[in-house]
Amino acid sequence: MSSLVTYQVEDGLALIGLARPPVNALGQPLREAILQACERADADAAVRAIVLYGANGLFCAGADISEFGSPASFAAPDLPDVLLRLTRLDKPLVAAIGRLALGGGLELALACGYRVGEPQTHVGLPEINLGLLPGAGGTQRLPRLVGVAPALEMMLSGAQVPAARALELGILDRLADSAGQLLDCACQFARELIASGAPARPAERFPDPASGLEADFLERYRAEQEPRWKSRLAPRLVFSAVEAACLLPLEQGLAREVALFKQAEDSLQSQAQRHVFFAEREAGKIPGIDASTPLRPIRKVAVIGAGTMGGGIAMNFINVGIPVTLLERQGDALDRGLAQIRQNYSISVKRGKLSEERLEQRMALLTGTLDYADLADADLVIEAVFEQLQIKQEVFRQLDQVCKPGAILATNTSSLDVDQIAAVTTRAQDVIGLHFFSPANVMRLLEVVNARETAADVLATTLRMGRTIGKVPVVSGVCFGFIGNRMLEPYAREAHRLVLEGATPEQVDAVLTGLDLNMGVFSMLDLAGVDVNFLVRDANRAAIAHDPSYCRIGDELYSLGRYGQKTGRGFYLYEGRNRQNDYEVVALAERLAGELHVARRPIADQEIHDRCLFMLINEGIQLLDEGIALRAGDIDLVWINGYGFPAHLGGPMHYAEQLGLDKVLAGIEHYRQSLGEYGRMWFTPAPLLERLVAAGKTRIERF
Ligand code: 3HC
Ligand code: NAI
Repeated sequence: MSSLVTYQVEDGLALIGLARPPVNALGQPLREAILQACERADADAAVRAIVLYGANGLFCAGADISEFGSPASFAAPDLPDVLLRLTRLDKPLVAAIGRLALGGGLELALACGYRVGEPQTHVGLPEINLGLLPGAGGTQRLPRLVGVAPALEMMLSGAQVPAARALELGILDRLADSAGQLLDCACQFARELIASGAPARPAERFPDPASGLEADFLERYRAEQEPRWKSRLAPRLVFSAVEAACLLPLEQGLAREVALFKQAEDSLQSQAQRHVFFAEREAGKIPGIDASTPLRPIRKVAVIGAGTMGGGIAMNFINVGIPVTLLERQGDALDRGLAQIRQNYSISVKRGKLSEERLEQRMALLTGTLDYADLADADLVIEAVFEQLQIKQEVFRQLDQVCKPGAILATNTSSLDVDQIAAVTTRAQDVIGLHFFSPANVMRLLEVVNARETAADVLATTLRMGRTIGKVPVVSGVCFGFIGNRMLEPYAREAHRLVLEGATPEQVDAVLTGLDLNMGVFSMLDLAGVDVNFLVRDANRAAIAHDPSYCRIGDELYSLGRYGQKTGRGFYLYEGRNRQNDYEVVALAERLAGELHVARRPIADQEIHDRCLFMLINEGIQLLDEGIALRAGDIDLVWINGYGFPAHLGGPMHYAEQLGLDKVLAGIEHYRQSLGEYGRMWFTPAPLLERLVAAGKTRIERF
């Protein structure tokens, strides 16, 4: 018997434990072991029912994602086949679902006739997050078990369904009182099934899932959902598979599902999303930090500055039950900040996403103060005051005075030098950058800025804390703009310049949103504030002084007080949330082009794509070469989680690999030639890109 499963027969029951840590991913050897164990139990006359469970508690997190794209994925016995054979066994199978049954794990449980959970159990079909659809019967068996609408909802959202809801839907037949009692409860259930002579599988509740649906249900559902799918393939394939479940007998539906699954598995989008899955796990692996690195306890947090960022940052902690002290300079600013936080929660209450009781519980964890002495017992302090070095240094001098030894002192600066901030304290080893993105309670990205003297345990603690509050923490070294904003700079520069040369903001934005980015450059600047962008640029003026055209349109809009959405005018005109093009911006571009002797011409969409994207990619590769980013995958995570880059393109580095590094290099060299002096000023290939291409490499890595 394989070591990947445990097997014992007790009192007429075969207990088969899945034992492939950490998550019982259904790779080929485990698939084979499950099948053999179940067939052995089937052949044993002493066995009357079979209980499948997770030998280490967790049931199963699905197919082995690392097999996808390789022959191992469908190596015999493949998962659809194993599950089909389980459904044909003549004895009842009971799945005892501890903690998780995800993807192929839930499909395994659906192949069993009966399912038992425990209070912490969650089930789900998250394949969509990998650019896939359930490929081992999920798209056919779930609609037959719970009905079409809930099945579609689960597959298109990829969300985990908690035990109580799973019971309500009929995915679980029974709930044990606790995780510790799960196996006993499943065995008890199996014995009852034997005693009552229950069939190996109960009759399906929705044998013909289409019956009872309104005739145009699928059509309407698709029309409602499709705008959100943009150019993603996977939701469309999920939908086709569910259509098959409605139209075809089970066996034909299963065959159709396998064909659709293979199409998804082979797609560039799924490759990209699988890359993102592993990049998220890699991002936590930092040289010099491992399981033996001590962690500092974070029981109390303080936030300085109750403005846009400070309020959102504080919410992250109270959301997970960690008390926060919020410090401001003046009472009215503090009151405004606290009121804003309450207001944000009230919106969630109105939308039915939060109870009044929870709102009050969270607010009770929040204390406002004007007195630094109240920060003396904080384990972590995050500063979010105005973006001026002197002001931040003054705050850190005070923190150095009042904070207890070992407290972690973090700055949320978006562009200042964290080393210079650390230098004013007597404890630079405790200082780190924690760069949240706006809105800080919503955006998943957290750039963790590892300063020159930051201690390893401070880095390890903040990375773990970042995950505790639901962020994707990515480590960056110290440089102007860190990973994300430094890459934004050449990308936005090209967008501005293209408008000078003859494109319109709308055309540039349309090319970028056509690639499925959440927003184009100019909509984003109007949202974040043309003034904010100007001030950051101005602080870095020396580095751009040699180019008089550098973001000139942005500078002019700033001097006209056109700050974007907040003033109703920026690169666009706004009426409420309605965005319109503004001929004055075009006229401004024409005037500036004349003054700067920039020839205007019609600009092709391909040129917009190449100039913006290649400059973004080039800067990312340069950051990797400088060691500011540890891995190409980290850069991808920054742009996906902080800047709306589509996960199904895998992030800018993965996208470059899919385009071909040689093509990116050739494009940069082309514009270096064709754009004259401007091209020579900015279109310099990153040396690492040149080295990679010269060596024939197709992946972006340090080299
Ligand atoms: N395949 C391969 N490896 C997996 C895996 C899977 N399905 N799920 C998790 N792992 C690995 C992770 O890569 C990680 O490896 P590492 O330690 O070497 O980095 C390790 O297991 C632990 O994972 P996490 O760090 O993510 O642990 P967490 O406790 O934070 O999360 C989890 C656990 C919720 C199970 C999370 O790992 C997860 O969401 N996994 C993916 C679930 C999923 O998408 N399943 C569907 C797969 S596709 C499928 O089943 C197709 C089928 O329909 C045919
Ligand atoms: P904000 O102007 O909304 O808030 C700053 C708050 O700090 C104000 O309430 C002010 O009264 C308070 N403050 C100023 N000096 C103080 C002091 N000495 N002690 C206590 N409180 C003080 O600014 P915002 O947007 O929240 O930015 C804060 C920081 O976050 C800046 O460093 C900014 O660069 C950074 N940041 C901002 C992002 C954004 O999108 N707004 C995104 C990421 C980082």
